[in-house]
Amino acid sequence: MDRIRIKGGHRLHGTIPISGAKNATLPLMIASLLTEETLILDNVPRLADVGQLQRILGNHGVDVMVGGKRPGETPYDGQTLHISAARIVDTTAPYDLVSKMRASFWVIAPLVARMGQARVSMPGGCAIGTRPVDLLIMALERLGADIEIDGGYVIARAKDGLKGGEITFPKVTVGGTHTAIMAASLARGTTVIENAAHEPEVKDVADCLNLMGARISGAGTSRIVVEGVAKLGGARHRVLPDRIETGTYAMAVAMAGGDVLLENGRADLLQAGLDVLVEAGAHVSATNAGIRVARNGAGLAPVEVKTAPFPGFPTDLQAQLMALMTCAKGTSHITETIFENRFMHVQELVRLGAHIHLDGECATIEGVGKLTGAPVMATDLRASVSLVIAALAAEGETMVNRVYHLDRGFERLEDKLSACGAAIERIAG
Ligand code: UD1
Repeated sequence: MDRIRIKGGHRLHGTIPISGAKNATLPLMIASLLTEETLILDNVPRLADVGQLQRILGNHGVDVMVGGKRPGETPYDGQTLHISAARIVDTTAPYDLVSKMRASFWVIAPLVARMGQARVSMPGGCAIGTRPVDLLIMALERLGADIEIDGGYVIARAKDGLKGGEITFPKVTVGGTHTAIMAASLARGTTVIENAAHEPEVKDVADCLNLMGARISGAGTSRIVVEGVAKLGGARHRVLPDRIETGTYAMAVAMAGGDVLLENGRADLLQAGLDVLVEAGAHVSATNAGIRVARNGAGLAPVEVKTAPFPGFPTDLQAQLMALMTCAKGTSHITETIFENRFMHVQELVRLGAHIHLDGECATIEGVGKLTGAPVMATDLRASVSLVIAALAAEGETMVNRVYHLDRGFERLEDKLSACGAAIERIAG
């Protein structure tokens, strides 16, 4: 297993290119199951999760062709995928594939909408709380699917196709909203989705589906209306930039000090996160090329933050913010309202010398003068990158073990950081 070695204390200067969003790419790839024509996706990040989803789609009979490089492209330019689900040969998504990545469960929606049936293993993925799929199942039922649970599989059937309906989510769910939109796109009649997720990735997927011929309005708000169509066609769509990757590097710069352009980063996708960074003492400015983040000399101020659905502070940046606050001058409070048990990074940060006290969903972080390098273990995707951020400011050497979690969601992390002056290297295991 690969490890990452970091020697702390180096400021970051330069440019970090921001990749396409993982959390948009995955549902976009899944949306290809809705049509026999080819869906072309540009700006797709090179991530382990993308490769894993290619294998899952391949099992359904989907061909994924990865476009070659064009002259002038850099290693950071996203890839182009040509995805063709001309014939779906298998409507089962087996345990050994789905258990590795939770979002792969979402194939259930296009499969049942197009093929009238789907058999999908209950998901796995990051171990952050129980993460049930009851609301995704509820959405499919509201569109007329018969659901049976058997041997760890969810079996959805709609022999005569899905029918439009009213779906009111009791809590905001990104996966539930993706599922509902995809299923409703091929249902007969109109679907109204209330309390839908506002996340920019939902809007990105809806924009792509509309290019494919779907009739979706209101994506990006709480109320989404979908007029079902009989068939969807091919399209070409560019994945939006990854706001979580952007926020992660913004925190890395705030932690290490320095001045970095986050190229292609979009402030409108990350306002709550950027506001917190400014409060903490970083300089943030939006430019035509991206977002510039700097911190020179001055100490970090503590903050009070609660995670919330978009446009609130994202749960996917909670661990990174906590790493940053370990070195603030004073006491911070971070409350995690989306996922219970999303605090696995705490014990590892404590190994680096952080002072953190947990009380239910609230973490109290007393800033310390300095962290000290130590061996640490990555436990989930966002937690692992928080350890990298902490290590950038720690005295001495930190070895991050189990970095496969990082590779699921961060493209060439060590290259991007070392190009800006960080002492970080991958050690092949
Ligand atoms: C997506 C993101 C993930 C992010 C999360 C919240 C992707 C690939 N993943 O995950 O990075 O952290 O949104 O922004 O886009 N819930 C239920 N029942 C359900 C579904 C969800 O109770 O059927 C609960 C969850 O346990 C959680 C909350 O709803 O407490 C929000 O989860 P959800 O938005 O669905 O997260 P994901 O779509 O899995």
